[in-house]
Amino acid sequence: MLSDRFGRSIDYLRVSVTDRCDLRCTYCMPKDFKGYEDPPDWLSFDEIERVVAAFARLGTTRVRLTGGEPLTRRNLPQLATRLSSLEGVRDLSLSTNGTRLARHAEALAASGISRVNVSLDTLDRDCMAGITGRDCLPAVLDGLQAAKAAGLAPIKINMVAMRGVNDAEIETMAAFCIEQHFVLRLIEVMPMGETGRNTSYLNLAPVQQRLAEKFQLVPQALELGGGPARYWSTADGSASIGYITPLSQHFCATCNRVRLAVDGTLYLCLGQEQQYPLAPLLRGGASDAELEQAIREAIELKPQQHDFGREPTKIVRFMSQTGG
Ligand code: GTP
Ligand code: 5AD
Ligand code: SF4
Repeated sequence: MLSDRFGRSIDYLRVSVTDRCDLRCTYCMPKDFKGYEDPPDWLSFDEIERVVAAFARLGTTRVRLTGGEPLTRRNLPQLATRLSSLEGVRDLSLSTNGTRLARHAEALAASGISRVNVSLDTLDRDCMAGITGRDCLPAVLDGLQAAKAAGLAPIKINMVAMRGVNDAEIETMAAFCIEQHFVLRLIEVMPMGETGRNTSYLNLAPVQQRLAEKFQLVPQALELGGGPARYWSTADGSASIGYITPLSQHFCATCNRVRLAVDGTLYLCLGQEQQYPLAPLLRGGASDAELEQAIREAIELKPQQHDFGREPTKIVRFMSQTGG
């Protein structure tokens, strides 16, 4: 088992398979983003599998595929099949913007991905286009239905709550998710690079109380997926809403994850810059034992908590590089 300097067990690896995305969410991509570089530095599927296998030998049981938008990486289900077959990997999941989910849902389910988290900040088509830079709401809604039909469950909806942008829609979104049997997660926007800072931060603490009254929800001890969300559910457990509140109530004390970027850099915290490059080992003939030792050394660098509140922030990378 991997354990860090603060006694936290690290058993959850987020793997970014691309930093590309077909959307341009205001809180995620830089405004002057020009397009994509050629990716000779990207890890191949063989290299990703090798890293995940090393983590699995060290006790990692949960693996989440992220991006950018992971479904823009060609043949992603083939990678998923390889990762879900690794000994020790018990929970393989995907975070996606949903635009290509309709096309890929069945192949994903067949590949051993059991559940998906889908970004959906609004049910208003114009508002969605305003946030993402593309008229993509119909495609995402189709994707959600396809995911449901393919048996991917639970389906979680990630809504980044932004004052003056989509905060008036929180109740509507909650009602939609409850009706569709999706788990809504409301997320406080995090400042990453230049992104996520011009968008208006909304403290979710008062929202928790408001939704609790409206939908009769009580706080749950249960962890649903091992992530940072705190869940509130109805008494019969039929509906849940999760809150991801890195700013108003951070969850770093129970952090259990690290992130692999597509260039092989291991990021030890979303809200700090500590990193460890694995590509030189993968491409320099390192043995499995050396790779495992490097991962152990990297985990030693994991900081106690994020630094999001601090201005000016030290984080220079974008959310799209590690996929949240
Ligand atoms: P499960 O709980 O396994 O379903 O997944 P998750 O909620 O961890 O993953 P997802 O990709 O859906 O992320 C939802 C939101 O949580 C995104 O805004 C992420 O940036 C944020 N998030 C995930 N892990 C962390 C973390 O360790 N620290 C912080 N600050 N935010 C995180
Ligand atoms: N702050 C909070 N959440 C973000 N996401 C992307 N950028 C940010 C940000 N700056 C979320 C999206 C996506 C998830 C993986 O990360 O909602 O669903
Ligand atoms: Fe793309 Fe997701 Fe970032 Fe939006 S939040 S730009 S969908 S990676």
